Amino acid sequence: MCGIASYIGHRNAYPLILEMLKRLEYRGYDSAGIALCSQGKMKIYKEQGAIAALAESLSKQKPKGNLGIGHTRWATHGPATKINAHPHYSQNRRISIVHNGTVLNYYKLKEGLEKAGYEFYGETDTEILANYLDYWQQKNKGKLLSAIINTAPLLKGHSAFVAHDNQEPDSLYACNLGGELFVGRSQESEYFICSDKNALAGYADEYLALENGQIAVIQKDINCCLLNSSSAEELPCSWEKLKASAETLEKGSYPHFMLKEIFEQENVVAKTIDNLINDNGQALNLSLNNWRQKIAKMRKLVIIACGTSWHAGLVAKHFFAELAKLPVYCEYASEFLPESIDAEDIIIAISQSGSTADTLQAVQAAKERGASVISICNVDGSALTRTADVSLLTIAGPEIGVASTKAFTTQLAVLYILSVRFGRWRNQLKANEEKKIWQEIKMIPGKIKKILLSGPEIEKLAKKYKDYPNFLFLGRGQNFPIALEGALKLKEVSYIHAEGLSAGEMKHGSIALIDEQMPSFFIAVKDGQYDKVINNLLEISARQGHIIAVTTDKDQIIIDRADDIIPIPECPPLLYPFLTVIPTQLFAYYVARERGTNIDKPRNLAKAVTVE
Ligand code: AGP
Repeated sequence: MCGIASYIGHRNAYPLILEMLKRLEYRGYDSAGIALCSQGKMKIYKEQGAIAALAESLSKQKPKGNLGIGHTRWATHGPATKINAHPHYSQNRRISIVHNGTVLNYYKLKEGLEKAGYEFYGETDTEILANYLDYWQQKNKGKLLSAIINTAPLLKGHSAFVAHDNQEPDSLYACNLGGELFVGRSQESEYFICSDKNALAGYADEYLALENGQIAVIQKDINCCLLNSSSAEELPCSWEKLKASAETLEKGSYPHFMLKEIFEQENVVAKTIDNLINDNGQALNLSLNNWRQKIAKMRKLVIIACGTSWHAGLVAKHFFAELAKLPVYCEYASEFLPESIDAEDIIIAISQSGSTADTLQAVQAAKERGASVISICNVDGSALTRTADVSLLTIAGPEIGVASTKAFTTQLAVLYILSVRFGRWRNQLKANEEKKIWQEIKMIPGKIKKILLSGPEIEKLAKKYKDYPNFLFLGRGQNFPIALEGALKLKEVSYIHAEGLSAGEMKHGSIALIDEQMPSFFIAVKDGQYDKVINNLLEISARQGHIIAVTTDKDQIIIDRADDIIPIPECPPLLYPFLTVIPTQLFAYYVARERGTNIDKPRNLAKAVTVE
C-alpha cells in the first residue's frame, strides 16, 4: 500500500519528491523517508509518522541532490517505526531501495544472507531485498541491473521497487514485479518514478506504465531504457501524454477530501452516466459489441471485488437479476474460487484504484481459466485496466479520501447501465423499457443533490450518536449492501464498531444485541420489501433499540416508528442504493469529525491495498 516517488534530473530532488509523496500519502502514512545522492553517496532522511514530520526535519537540513528516492509507508513487515521506514540500504550502504508490496519468502532469503554474514538493523522484507541485491553483486561481480534480473525470479509475492547503486551515482532502476510503477518525463529530460501517475501532475509531460516483469533503467541526462526483467530484452518505451491535473488533488474549500468527494457525487455520477449513455439513450463507450453473442448465451456472471467495491457488486446482483435475468455470483476477490470458472463465463472486476492485489490476483486466475474480464475502474492505465479484456471507467476523478464514496456511486452507475445493456442483448428488455430506464437514471444526480442538502440535519444526528460504542446497519434486498457499506464507512473513519446486517436476518440471532446501547441505522424506503422492513423495524423498537431510519420523504408510518429520520426523495426501487448510501456516508463523516479521528487517513488503513 505504500507510495513511491523518485526523481533524477537537473533540479534539487528533495522538494519535488516531498511534494509527490504528499500526493501519495493516502496510500500509506505511518512513516516516510527520502534518500538523496550527493557526491556519489546516498544520504537517508527518515521520520516516523506523517510526511509532515519528514518535511519539518528536511526544512531544517535543506539537503541537496539531483537524484533521490522517496517513500511513504503502510507497515507490513515490522512496526511503523523510524528504523523500519524506507528507504532501506544494504549493509555496506552501497544499495538503497524503496519498495511497495511484500517479499513473501523474505525469511528464506534472510536465512541465506545471515549465513553469508549479513546483519540487519530493521525488521522489513525491503532491507532483506537490498542486501540480497548486494549479495548477488558481490558474489557475481555484476552490476545492479544483472542483480535485479537474477534476483527477480526468486522473489515470491508482488513487488515494485526503485533501487540505486552508489557505484552508479547517476542511475536509478525501477522494477515492477506485480505492483505498479509509472515513469514520468519532462521536456527538460527530468525523470520521475511514482506508484500513482496522478502524483506526476505538474512535473511530467509524458508517462509510461511499467508492466509486470519490466525494469526501467534511467540514467541522468541520457535516457530511460525499458527491459524485460527475465530476458533483459530491450522494449519500446510507449510514452503517453500525462492528463493528470494537480488541482484535483487538492481539498479546495472542504475541510477533508472525504467531504469534498461526498459532495462531488451529484456531478461525477452525472458525468459517468453521460459518458456511457447519450441524450438519445444510445449506449456509448461500452466497447462490448463483439461480446453480444457471448452475453446472450452466458450462464452466469461473476463479480470480483473487495471492500466498498464488493458492496457495489452486491447491489449489481439485483440489477442483473431484475434487468437481465442473469444469476450473479459476487465474490470477495480474496475468497475467489477459479475452479468454478470456465471460458463461457464473464467476470466483472470492480476496483476504484485498479491496484488492489487481491482483485488483481483473482482476475489473473480467472483469465487463466479462459474467462473474459470486464473491469470497472476509476484509474485509467492502472494494473487492472491493463489486465482486463475491456475496461469501463468511472468518471469520479481521483478519490483521495481512504474511505471510498464517489467511487461507489459511480460504480453503481456503470453497473446499472451494463445490466440494462445485458438485458437488451439477452432479450429481457424491450426498447421502450430501456428508454424509460435511461430517463429514470438521468434523474438520480438531482436526487443525490437534494440529499446532500440534508447534511446539517445529519450532522446533528452525528452529535447525538457519536459516543455509542457499537452500531447496527440494517437493510433488505438491494439495500442490504448499503447496510454493509454504511457499517464499513462508520468503522473506517470513526473507529466505532459497526455491523451491517440483512434486516430479515436480524431475528435469526443478531437481535440478541438490541438494547438501549445498540442503536440501529435502518434503510426503510418504499420498495418491494417495505412491509417486511416495517416489521423488522418494530422488532427492534419493541426491544428499546434506538432507530435512525433513512426513509422516503414524508413517510409517516416510518416517522412514527423511528427515533430519528433522514428523508430522501422517492425513486424507482432498483435505484434506491444510489440515494440510500449518501446519508450513511455523511453520518460516518460527521461522527468521525465529532470524534476527531484522521478522516482522510484513518489509522491502519491505506487507499490502495497492494498487498495480499
Ligand atoms: C472502502 O472505503 C475501503 N477503503 C476499502 O474497502 C476499498 O473499497 C477496498 O480496499 C477496495 O479498493 P479498490 O476499490 O481500490 O479495489
